[in-house]
Amino acid sequence: MKILVFEKEEHLDAYVGEYICHFIRNHSQPVIGFATGSTPLGVYCYFIDNYQAQKVSFRQVKAFNLDEYVGLTPSHPRSFASAMKNELFSHIDILPENINALDGSKEDMIQECQRYESLIDANPIDIQILGIGMDGHIAYNEPGSPLDGACHVVDLHQESIESSLDYGFDHIEDVPTQGVTQGIGTIMKAKQLIMMAKGEKKADLVKRMIYGEVTSDFPSSIIQRHPNVIVCLDRSAASQLKEEDYEKR
Ligand code: F6R
Repeated sequence: MKILVFEKEEHLDAYVGEYICHFIRNHSQPVIGFATGSTPLGVYCYFIDNYQAQKVSFRQVKAFNLDEYVGLTPSHPRSFASAMKNELFSHIDILPENINALDGSKEDMIQECQRYESLIDANPIDIQILGIGMDGHIAYNEPGSPLDGACHVVDLHQESIESSLDYGFDHIEDVPTQGVTQGIGTIMKAKQLIMMAKGEKKADLVKRMIYGEVTSDFPSSIIQRHPNVIVCLDRSAASQLKEEDYEKR
């Protein structure tokens, strides 16, 4: 595992942004996994700026979103599909048919999960962007999720429901209580993971993710077992790590 700690948040965003742009420029059919949430927003701005400056094109990129709320249509303003569209996809030249996501409004969610898992198997993800949730989740794999799980529906834990207030919901009662997510097993099939974390509130979580036991009680700990991971942190998120374990940037 490579751990990089950046002095400034914009350097972290530019590093991850440029790493992925470089990959896209050098591969004919890149498959990128995108996370919603606040952590990767600076990277998405980097993509938009570089697209506008004609330094990168997303026409050949296939995109896979990580997760979604159950009960919201993709066009619902609070869906993760809408968030990805608003924050990134509507500002770049990605083809709409290349944007893939779980649809939380399907009547048969088991079938929807199987559809998405098969689609990912047919289009293996080259680079998956990840963030860490306040209960240690990755995507919407809450504590207790099987470490080899496929796409599935989950009951959201209280921390995740509360964190959703940061994503535009006005009242806690408006937040869906279930999510649908790539499983930990699905995420582990990606060829490379880029885990990002920022801010003091993530410091203890990052420590446990990197040094703690690999356990389904703390799903992000699974990244320790992936053969190709880059962890990108700002100084606050890295404050509980030993200096000898990371590279300063
Ligand atoms: C979102 C996702 C979540 C977030 C995590 C961190 O698609 O997969 O696991 O990455 O909850 O969210 P932020 O970045 O808002 O702290």
